[in-house]
Amino acid sequence: MIFEAKDLKVYYKTKKGFVRAVDGINLSIEKGETVGLVGESGCGKSTFGQAILKILPPATFYGGSLKIENTELIGLNENEMRKIRGKKIGMIFQDPMTSLNPVMKVEKLFFETLKTHEPEITEEASRERTARVLEKVGIEPERMKEYSFQFSGGMRQRVMIALALVLNPILVIADEPTTSLDVIVQAQIMNLLNELRREYDMSLILITHDLGVVAEMADKICVMYAGHIVEEAVSEKLYYSPKHPYTELLLKSIPNTNIDDLDLKYIPGSPPDLLRPPVGCRFAPRCPYKKKICEVKEPPIFNVDGTKVKCWLYGGVKEW
Ligand SMILES: Nc1ncnc2c1ncn2[C@@H]1O[C@H](COP(=O)(O)OP(=O)(O)OP(=O)(O)O)[C@@H](O)[C@H]1O
Ligand SMILES: [Mg+2]
Repeated sequence: MIFEAKDLKVYYKTKKGFVRAVDGINLSIEKGETVGLVGESGCGKSTFGQAILKILPPATFYGGSLKIENTELIGLNENEMRKIRGKKIGMIFQDPMTSLNPVMKVEKLFFETLKTHEPEITEEASRERTARVLEKVGIEPERMKEYSFQFSGGMRQRVMIALALVLNPILVIADEPTTSLDVIVQAQIMNLLNELRREYDMSLILITHDLGVVAEMADKICVMYAGHIVEEAVSEKLYYSPKHPYTELLLKSIPNTNIDDLDLKYIPGSPPDLLRPPVGCRFAPRCPYKKKICEVKEPPIFNVDGTKVKCWLYGGVKEW
């Protein structure tokens, strides 16, 4: 196992109180495994991804455990985290325009990244490494002399992938890496990511709105709802025999396997306010199978035919 989150809690501090964006998540990832993370907007996917790198606002509360290989990240300070970011965990964001420094030449971007972890590295050695990884993502090495704003959106995303890979991390987190691109470029970037993941034998957390993409690319899928993982299963199982009512409705709601196009008539209502989430199951207010217990007691995670599901339907409750 290369990654493990245990009862992970990530709360944003606000004037109104704590926003419980991630509220007790358990997830482990093996070497080379791809995990898809899906769920409606605001359920905590990006918070989870960014918490792994600890790049959230300084006042954010972290609880539980977060381990990469055998290193516990929760107690680490900023200096210690800097050694882990990029080196052990790479990140690919949704919008490379805001995350790639546009006033830095591409070669300099790579040099700065490499220097953080290998202070001795020469500019020449850095250029060599940069050329190699740019080739991998299909960019001519000569273009490292250019600035990122001179690239098209798809090209910028390729640069971002190269930058995430240059230090050969064990785990890469890709947060909606293709959302801002057109459909054809999206597919190219996803294929590239998939190939490189295999070649570098790294693990991948893929956050996406596109259930079709995760079903194809991921070994297992986690469905998030209001700060919880409500279902975790091998991709095919989740896709063809969903267990949690939310997953079932989510799959039903998707005309083109794209969560952005949700036809929400199947899931009336809206997700709860994470400042004051419901006491019992967080999905209960919208759940067609809701019973008494659901509103008063949070369900634990049940193991049903290898699927992990956080729902009282599987709790063998006699008295509803
Ligand atoms: N800096 C912040 N301060 C307070 N609350 C925040 C902050 N960032 C996010 N949140 C809240 O945390 C919750 C989870 O947000 P997050 O961005 O992780 O969701 P998401 O699943 O990535 O959504 P999307 O699919 O829209 O990207 C939301 O309720 C959001 O409003
Ligand atoms: Mg997000």
